[in-house]
Amino acid sequence: MSCQHIEDLDRGTPLRESETMITLEIDGELVTVPEGTSIMRAAMEMGTKIPKLCATDSLEPFGSCRMCLVEIEGRRGYPASCTTPVAAGLKVKTQSPKLADLRRGVMELYISDHPLDCLTCAANGNCELQDTAGEVGLREVRYGYEGANHLKSEKDESNPYFSYDPAKCIVCNRCVRACEETQGTFALTIDGRGFASRVAPAGGKDFLDSECVSCGACVEACPTATLIEKSVIKIGQAEHAIETTCAYCGVGCGFKAEMRGNELVRMTPSKNGQANHGHSCVKGRFAWGYATHPDRMTKPMIRKNITDPWQEVSWDEALSYAASEFRRIQAKYGRDSIGGITSSRCTNEETYLVQKLIRAAFGNNNVDTCARVCHSPTGYGLKQTLGESAGTQTFDSVMKADVVIVMGANPTDGHPVFASILKRRLRQGAKLIVIDPRRIDLIDTHHGRAQYHLPLRPGTNVAMLNALAHVIVTEGLVAEDFVTERCDMVSFNKWREFVAMPENSPEAMEVVTGVSAEDIRAAARLYATAGNGAIYYGLGVTEHSQGSTTVMAIANLAMATGNIGREGVGVNPLRGQNNVQGSCDMGSFPHEFPGYRHVSDLATRQLFEDAWGVTLQSEPGLRIPNMFEAALDGSFKGLYCEGEDIAQSDPNTQHVTAALSSMECIVVQDIFLNETAKFAHVFLPGSSFLEKDGTFTNAERRISRVRKVMPPLGGKADWEVTIALAKALGYDMHYNHPSEIMDEIARLTPTFHGVSYDKIDKLGSIQWPCNEHAPEGTPTMHIDEFVRGKGRFMISRYQPTDEKTSKRFPLLLTTGRILSQYNVGAQTRRTENNAWHSEDRMELHPVDAEERGIVDGDWVGVASRAGETVMRAHVTERMQPGIVYTTFHFPESGANVITTDNSDWATNCPEYKVTAVELIKVNQPSEWQKRYREFSEQQAELLAARKARNVQTA
Ligand code: SF4
Ligand code: SF4
Ligand code: SF4
Ligand code: FES
Repeated sequence: MSCQHIEDLDRGTPLRESETMITLEIDGELVTVPEGTSIMRAAMEMGTKIPKLCATDSLEPFGSCRMCLVEIEGRRGYPASCTTPVAAGLKVKTQSPKLADLRRGVMELYISDHPLDCLTCAANGNCELQDTAGEVGLREVRYGYEGANHLKSEKDESNPYFSYDPAKCIVCNRCVRACEETQGTFALTIDGRGFASRVAPAGGKDFLDSECVSCGACVEACPTATLIEKSVIKIGQAEHAIETTCAYCGVGCGFKAEMRGNELVRMTPSKNGQANHGHSCVKGRFAWGYATHPDRMTKPMIRKNITDPWQEVSWDEALSYAASEFRRIQAKYGRDSIGGITSSRCTNEETYLVQKLIRAAFGNNNVDTCARVCHSPTGYGLKQTLGESAGTQTFDSVMKADVVIVMGANPTDGHPVFASILKRRLRQGAKLIVIDPRRIDLIDTHHGRAQYHLPLRPGTNVAMLNALAHVIVTEGLVAEDFVTERCDMVSFNKWREFVAMPENSPEAMEVVTGVSAEDIRAAARLYATAGNGAIYYGLGVTEHSQGSTTVMAIANLAMATGNIGREGVGVNPLRGQNNVQGSCDMGSFPHEFPGYRHVSDLATRQLFEDAWGVTLQSEPGLRIPNMFEAALDGSFKGLYCEGEDIAQSDPNTQHVTAALSSMECIVVQDIFLNETAKFAHVFLPGSSFLEKDGTFTNAERRISRVRKVMPPLGGKADWEVTIALAKALGYDMHYNHPSEIMDEIARLTPTFHGVSYDKIDKLGSIQWPCNEHAPEGTPTMHIDEFVRGKGRFMISRYQPTDEKTSKRFPLLLTTGRILSQYNVGAQTRRTENNAWHSEDRMELHPVDAEERGIVDGDWVGVASRAGETVMRAHVTERMQPGIVYTTFHFPESGANVITTDNSDWATNCPEYKVTAVELIKVNQPSEWQKRYREFSEQQAELLAARKARNVQTA
């Protein structure tokens, strides 16, 4: 089967928008297009294809290949149609004997310096040079192939995912432009002049060593096999493609899974993806190998004790063992002695089913999700102030922002495709304010320098926001009309009085935040007066003892300056996992049904009781930290944990593992035997995003389809497993397909009333709320009024955290992510992404390093009040003195052994971002690491014993 249908039609140059329409004549036909459109695109719009090589519709035209020449009546010469804009009344000819000659001549020159290995070339059948040579009718090359050429140029195979073969390069510059315009990294350049010119990665000897972040935009743009995926070289061209959604981060990029039979050949970013418009990052684009990694667990297993070897059993046996254990525990310890954790990596439909199983079949509300440890303060804070707990805008909205505050987020690493959109806007002149203890990459890149970097001390976000608000209120920068019309004046007046107090001034807060009052004043003025002001924030805002207060302070700031309710403004949480927004929407919190309705609300409870045929609890259930506490108290004994690795991701690891060890039945459903599964009694094989149908909801509230491209390796998709477990527990659920689950969600959830698979297929994606009032969804929220009616200002008093530095722990540790690894690393550690980051490192400032005699690469012991671990040091000026930073992607580094169980006052979101620590040079692992290794080896043996027994049985 040809894979032509995999390609989207390339119209040559980007779409232009204009209210002025221009009519011209092309090949005798009239065509009307927006002003600014190229002749090439106008021709393409009417179905006339003009040969091209250097043009593509995702990039600005460059006009270098001279393949797209046309004739224009009354004009001399043969202008390039890609760089010539339309004009009223033009008469254009795209075909003539002279044009055909010219095009053939140009093509002849290209081909004379190109390897003639089309039949064995990996791009055969999917190469624009090959196609264009055919289109222009080139049959022979008059110059022969003996002259000066690049055919013996050396390949660059350094990048693990794509190769660069300069012999095939036609120097069309598409890759260079893609890296600049689409990705915003500027990692490529054209080296040399004239015939000697070749593409070269900047800042290194090869791609891997360069500034390249492996986003794949250049590979996507390359019209030849010069830049090509190694998977295509290995497997061959795809036969068919299926549109789906990335399973990594909350940007929610649309992808085409390109397949040969059931084998994935490559993932290409979809031009139809409404969050990413054809762009991607290294994770979604290339790091999909984990899905078929040999570590995948595909057989259900059980064991009585965690010191017993695993036993492979049938699905029925595993499910009935799990069900009988849960019922035994409930009979002995009470109905509330078990609970479950939903997965933010699974689909909406799967998450909905897990919370339904817990509420309806377990009979309690003991359900929670990983948002507890990331964005639960967003839910609380935005609901209190604006009335809806989700972000207010689309990602594209940032293209209309004049000033952007990025607070406690590192988008180039955590949300790379959004970062590329933001960088594009910054290159157009928007201003940037970064509020972060670290010198993140956005501060200093090719779009210029951030106007203000406010490098505050970890734990002082609220002090910083109050100081910014103080300036706005006391310098007359409040958007009075907006506030009077849209906000609750009683709350506003109280807030105004509060932030105006001298103790909240930048000068008073200087000593707390560590940031100069002058910079804070200037940044506040910029945000309030530059036009559209947008705020994007991440876990550096939420994962604090005052996480919820910080979110409310952000909302206060946006309301006071009128920066809410239209494009280009807003309050935008950058959500972590692919479906963390969805898992919250689907009722994963112990106090809320789907659609954020409290379990104590009688009408809502009755709605679900009628639909599910059970009586439901009216009291909120246990949050994850309460589950651990109850486990240690002996009252919580059973857990169903789907697609979540709490033993690695949650703070104070030793506390978590002690709680897990005290339970009698832990059922883990996952694609790998993760850290939590080492404490499990039942293992149910999970399915990757490639193996099931469903939907994910990204940080923009955008619901997108996930489509099955291969059968589940374990035989069941996750939603089927939950249904089977419910049945084993004596509670029947009937769904033939995830679309039926979505129909039920839509029926029972007002903000989803209008959502269906048919509509998602038709529109591409839908941003909730989608209902009678907004049949096609809601890209921007709070337009005419806030969801709660009047916007409510909340007093945000700064309360220093209890976690203090001391003589014993003089440094502050904050944690975060890196581009190439993801969360607990279960997926990315099983890919070639390790080429960039193969261990967690402790970043510290040279001054702190010198004081302790530490040099880059040394092993350092890290001790906090919670525990000790050892990792390698990375000495860098990104850090300020006194503050250190690490990631938590590798279980053996034990970053969460050090973090404490301090948490947000409102939501229990852990205070990951502030831990007092001391570093010391060491030469052996910590005690915890020794115990961890021993336990992991033991567990590996118990897994191996399972294999041996099967072999014997067989
Ligand atoms: S590598 Fe590809 S995209 Fe870049 S200049 Fe060469 S042919 Fe063009
Ligand atoms: S992979 Fe991305 S960052 Fe690297 S050179 Fe290509 S476009 Fe630039
Ligand atoms: S930005 Fe996020 S959603 Fe997009 S490809 Fe990367 S990991 Fe996937
Ligand atoms: S496509 Fe127009 S000059 Fe290359």
